[in-house]
Amino acid sequence: MSMTIFYFSATGNSLTTAELLAKELEAELIPAASTKHLSKVTVTTDAVGFVFPVYYGDMPYPVREMIAKTVFQPDSYVFICTTQRGHAGAAAKRMDQLLRTRGQKLSLSVGVMMPGNSFINEPEVDAKYLAEQETTVKALIPRIVNRETEDHTTTELLPLMPVASPNNFRGITADEKCVGCGICTKVCPMENIVIRDGHAVIEDDCSTCLACFHWCPTEAIWMSRQENIARRSKYHHPAVTMEKIADQKK
Ligand SMILES: Cc1cc2nc3c(=O)[nH]c(=O)nc-3n(C[C@H](O)[C@H](O)[C@H](O)COP(=O)(O)O)c2cc1C
Repeated sequence: MSMTIFYFSATGNSLTTAELLAKELEAELIPAASTKHLSKVTVTTDAVGFVFPVYYGDMPYPVREMIAKTVFQPDSYVFICTTQRGHAGAAAKRMDQLLRTRGQKLSLSVGVMMPGNSFINEPEVDAKYLAEQETTVKALIPRIVNRETEDHTTTELLPLMPVASPNNFRGITADEKCVGCGICTKVCPMENIVIRDGHAVIEDDCSTCLACFHWCPTEAIWMSRQENIARRSKYHHPAVTMEKIADQKK
């Protein structure tokens, strides 16, 4: 393999996008969550991609944590492919900043519009993005194969609105419908959920990925203190199973 692709995903949009990219680019696919307990991540290829969802116009906290301990090959070609429902915000700017602390820079930033898993969106738009996913991803391939580059130091992007550290600021909780099945503990990439006295307890090391909310089989998990989105419908990419999300930690 001459390329490595790392991914992070709660509901499968980024996982399936990463799988499509890896197939077309003949890249090795590695889940970012599997590196949580490593003190150092060494990338052995000189081309590397990162596929992840946009959270609040920024990168997911676990991916930022991973970059901070990653050792790259000199002068690597590094690209990101974000998945988002609206706008990638400052994710590229953040990635470029992080890479510079590792002696690299961001070569290319591409994105794929996908169904949203946070706010409530128009279902027909979500369906359109889902139907177009494969075509959209395949159209990106030549840009990566040709090692297209952009200068991210001068890109004018939205000001960073980072969630400085993981915490359960959304107030994600499990209510009395929780049966203690433990699925949320399996899908949580942060290992932040425990079953205590037969009930799921969401602790403070939360990346707000919402995997627990979307995969809960009894609809016990409230995704937010905000009433208008707390009970939005569950979503996961139709091609992805709960086991595949849980396997990211392996
Ligand atoms: C906490 C949170 C914040 C989000 N913020 C944004 C955002 O700023 N812009 C955007 O376009 N989509 C945003 N989204 C939507 C996701 O980026 C999008 O649905 C993504 O494809 C989900 O990827 P996944 O299925 O791989 O987890 C957000 C989702 C979550 C859970």
